[in-house]
Formats: sequence, structure tokens, C-alpha cells
Amino acid sequence: MKTKHIIDVQSLTTEYIYSIFKLAQDMQNKEKTPLYKEFFSDKIIATVFYEPSTRTRLSFESAVYRLGGNVITVENASESSSTTKGETLSDTIKTIASYADAIILRHPEDDASIIASSVSSVPVINAGAGKAEHPTQALLDGFTIYEHFGRIQNMHITMVGDLLRGRTIYSLVYLLAKFPGNTFTFVSSAHFSMRKELREFLTNHHVSFEEKETLDDDILQKTDVLYATRIQKERCGDDKICLASVSTCVIDEHVLAKLNPHAVIMHPLPRVDEISLIVDADPRAIYFTQVKNGVYVRMAILMKIIH
Ligand code: NCD
Repeated sequence: MKTKHIIDVQSLTTEYIYSIFKLAQDMQNKEKTPLYKEFFSDKIIATVFYEPSTRTRLSFESAVYRLGGNVITVENASESSSTTKGETLSDTIKTIASYADAIILRHPEDDASIIASSVSSVPVINAGAGKAEHPTQALLDGFTIYEHFGRIQNMHITMVGDLLRGRTIYSLVYLLAKFPGNTFTFVSSAHFSMRKELREFLTNHHVSFEEKETLDDDILQKTDVLYATRIQKERCGDDKICLASVSTCVIDEHVLAKLNPHAVIMHPLPRVDEISLIVDADPRAIYFTQVKNGVYVRMAILMKIIH
């Protein structure tokens, strides 16, 4: 049987995405949860993280334990694994594949999970690769939208922040573009505008989008999902403007006053300066719901992959 990796969003079908949502809903359901409690009792899952993480690693580990499984982990892999001795990622992955039934990998290189999946005998789940993709975050973001609105189509999504290097943006756009009627506004200064590949992808798939430098009232009125991201400082390289930047488009009380009353405000977290603390109390702010949903969606992903 072919090993089922999760490397990017583009290769997921809408049927697969809906099946994850359905299973995640089951996981949330207190009556059904006990059914899954022993599912992974003979399974060992490896979390291998070459970049910092709070939510992704801990929610995956929580998901494994909730399924009755066990976790082995390399939390700070760039410093604590044999990479420091010069071992290649391929050799590290081949080794870990002998110890675990699946590998959850976060890495600073865009192609890391592609390389890992090409050598691994067990499923690899991309838990964030460079600036390229973060598919499980897109699935939990998509699930959160689906749960809130009861649909994941015919929505207007406004994305603000680091559209150049934010991998969650890329994965979520690829996911939402699969569903009919979704349209986008991308708001950023020119220095942080989205990469050509995304612009071309949307054009080729006939998905309607516009790019703006400021979040004006018209946009706020028509927005269903306002999705904010932080500047990806660790990916600035020697770009001095990036290193010195603070968010220019902050979600604060002025934005709240103008925002469509039925909209939601989302963020993959961690937040730095993009969303004022005052926004947390607004019922439209659902970023901590995203956090909660992360566990159920990752339980569903693990179940689908290791069944
Ligand atoms: C994101 C990531 O790692 O790309 N965090 C996460 O997984 N929730 C977003 C970010 O770090 O800005």
C-alpha cells in the first residue's frame, strides 16, 4: 500500500478535506470520543521539530495521547539531533522511520518534507516547512471556518501581514481556492506582498483576488474572514527592512468598529503586534477556537493516515 504523507494542501481533494472535518467533529463529540481512545495503543509517533513551536507540536502530541498512542520527540532538532554532527535530513528521517509509525516534521527549509517523504518508510506529516506550506494549520483553519459558518465556500477572505513569507497564508489560500465562490483581498505593504507563485496560481484557477496596501472600510464591510499573520522575522535573512518592520496593519478597536458584524478574526498564532489585546474580548475573535480545534483536526489527520 502507498504510504500516505501530508506534504502540501494542493494534493488534498475536497472530499478528503470534508472527511477530515467530519472526523474532527466526531472527535469533539463527547459521546463519540471514547470510541477512539484505544485506537493508537500500539502506535509510536515521532515529533521532529527543527524550529520552535508551541501549538503545532503540543497539539499533535496531545492528539496522539488522546488516541491512546505514545510519542517520541526531538524538540530542538537543529541543536539536539545528529544534524549537529553533519548527518543529512534523509539519514535522520530513515533512522526515525525505524522507531515510529509516523513522523511529524517541522523544518526551516521549504522542501524538507518533500525530501523526508521520499526516503521515509512511514507517513510524514509536514508541520511547517520554511515559507512554503503548513497544511495541517490550513486544515484546522478551514475546519474552524466551516464550523463557524456552516460552509467553506462563497466567502470573502481578507489576509493581512507577512504575505511574502507566511506559510500559513499559502496553505490556507490553496485550501480555500478549492471551494467555489471564495474571493480574496490581500493587504500588505509592497515589501511584504505575496509571492508571484500564489498570484499565478489564483489567476490560473480563476479565483478572484485584489491586493491593497491598507485595510479600508469597504474591505472591512465585505469581509467574512479577517486572517492576520505576524512578520516572519526568522525568515527575513539579511533584508534590513523586514528585520526592522513592525506590523502596519494592526487589528484594533478602530478596525472592530468598521468590521462586518458577522465576520470572524483569525490568526494562526503566535501573535506579536498584529492584533491588539482588546480584540480578544470581541465575539468575532476566534483565534483561541482555532487553537482548540487544532487537537481534534490533528487527531482526525492521524487517524486517516495511520488506519
Ligand atoms: C505558524 C507557523 O509556524 O507557521 N504557527 C503555527 O504553527 N500556529 C505561524 C507563525 O509562526 O507565524
